[in-house]
Amino acid sequence: MSDRKLLVTNALPYVNGHLHLGHLVGYIQADIFVRYQRMNGNHVGYFCGDDTHGTATMIRAREEGREPEAILEEMSDSHQQDFAGFQVVFDHYGSTHSESNREAVTGIWTALREAGRVVERDVTQLFDTESGVFLADRFVKGTCPKCGASDQFGDNCEVCGGMYDPQDLGDPRSTLTGTVPELRTAVHYFVSLEEFHDFLDEWTQSPGRLQPEIANQLKGSFLSEPLRDWDVSRPAPYFGFEIPDAPGHFFYVWVDAPIGYIASTRDWCDQNGEQVEDWWNNPDREIHHFIGKDIVYFHTLFWPAMLKTGGYELPRHVQVNGFLTVNGEKMSKRKGTFLQARTYLEHLSPNYLRYYFASKLSSSVTDIDLNFEEFTAKVNSDLVGKLINLASRTARFMKGQKLCESYPDDGGLFERGAAAGAEIAEAYEACDTNKVTRVVMALADRANEYVEAGAPWSLKKQEGKEEEVRQVCSVALNLFRQLTVYLQPILPELSTKANELLGQESESHFSEAQSPLTGVSVEKFEHLMRRVDPDRITAMVEASISEE
Ligand code: MSP
Ligand code: ZN
Repeated sequence: MSDRKLLVTNALPYVNGHLHLGHLVGYIQADIFVRYQRMNGNHVGYFCGDDTHGTATMIRAREEGREPEAILEEMSDSHQQDFAGFQVVFDHYGSTHSESNREAVTGIWTALREAGRVVERDVTQLFDTESGVFLADRFVKGTCPKCGASDQFGDNCEVCGGMYDPQDLGDPRSTLTGTVPELRTAVHYFVSLEEFHDFLDEWTQSPGRLQPEIANQLKGSFLSEPLRDWDVSRPAPYFGFEIPDAPGHFFYVWVDAPIGYIASTRDWCDQNGEQVEDWWNNPDREIHHFIGKDIVYFHTLFWPAMLKTGGYELPRHVQVNGFLTVNGEKMSKRKGTFLQARTYLEHLSPNYLRYYFASKLSSSVTDIDLNFEEFTAKVNSDLVGKLINLASRTARFMKGQKLCESYPDDGGLFERGAAAGAEIAEAYEACDTNKVTRVVMALADRANEYVEAGAPWSLKKQEGKEEEVRQVCSVALNLFRQLTVYLQPILPELSTKANELLGQESESHFSEAQSPLTGVSVEKFEHLMRRVDPDRITAMVEASISEE
């Protein structure tokens, strides 16, 4: 099984906002998957970057009187800092606004042209005459044509949930200038997708490609009728790449966004003496994308069609995550639950969230809820109370001593833990970290029972029991380390500290959970993890409310 070659990507975050905890669901999930693969000796490249183009970037640059590039740099730094804060470690963090991306986009565009997949058609859109831009749906507001609610966006109504075209809004206004937009017609370029229908039927439905609910959803919706042509261009002005053979027209942001995966890989290859073809045109390489459920159709219809036409390998698997709610509701600025990544980091440890998300995430697409009470309870009782406790109650009796030279009789506990390795591995492979944490915590329960019964703290007070203390502690510390090895993808810092306590290399191979350590010195016990202080959560929410 080892020696697999994987290329893993996460959705590229939009440059126009800071990361919030909702974003982190998918990034933490993918980072865990990558770390798990590496722990098995598999070769992984893990790539991401900023998604930079579009009307929103152009408008913000205008409003702030800055070059878009200045905004891009600032936001990329911010995103990278936040990812590092949560221990999400990419091999390369690129940008869709790069020469490498322009080249890759041009290549795929040329291929689409040559394959005869590009058609031109007139499109009528609302145009803001004062700012001189065509208005994307989010830049128009008016009265809902379905229910009459006022102040609704151009694509759907938040009151009745209706979907419509911006032209159908009553009393439309540009959100940029407040002026009444007019209808204007311009040429747009489209990719005709129906020719890919059979291919997409097969690709989306092949086993292991997509989670079953996603495959079924596609089959029952988009794929159940002829595929509509995809509008891939926007007339100037637009912040993006100009279409090489259509001056005055720009690629719609969703064309160059996923191609940014290739560009990010290419940048890394250029810096590391590798060939991008070995990553994207190599059937031995498994391509895995991690995305949220709102962007499924970009990744499962347009994207495979573009890759196929461009002569690239197709993704082996697309893993889709559900959306995050906080305390059972949509994240809300007013309630302070629209939590930015950095606000969280100012108050709480990233390890708590990595563990909490891992414990909630399974292979299904269901939404997950961040419930502060459950969060506190899981960290305090599972992580600190069950896991850390194994070490904190025993390591201090072993300071400066060595673990037993031969592993003591533990009634089969370590062996039972070792046997669980296959089940844990399978769960990691399926991104079912809920299961990983359940299995590990059940093992921790058994280990704690053993420590309770062995009671080294009272043995310690009795004469002639030194060897018994040593045996109980050798077992407890081995069971502790076995579990931290299993949790290393989720809690890399904890695993490192556990390894340091026992004089081991900071990163473990997955197979290290199979055999106990004997005869190694126990180092000084350092504090491994604190309990969550509920006051910190309150302070975080208050800080979040006062952010603008
Ligand atoms: N720029 C696009 C992706 C382009 S990929 C070629 C985008 N960016 S995003 O910043 O809006 O979202 C980044 C990732 O976070 C996406 O996978 C998105 O689905 C995910 N999430 C955004 N909000 C989320 C939640 N509230 N909950 C869970 N995931 C969320 O989409
Ligand atoms: Zn409505």
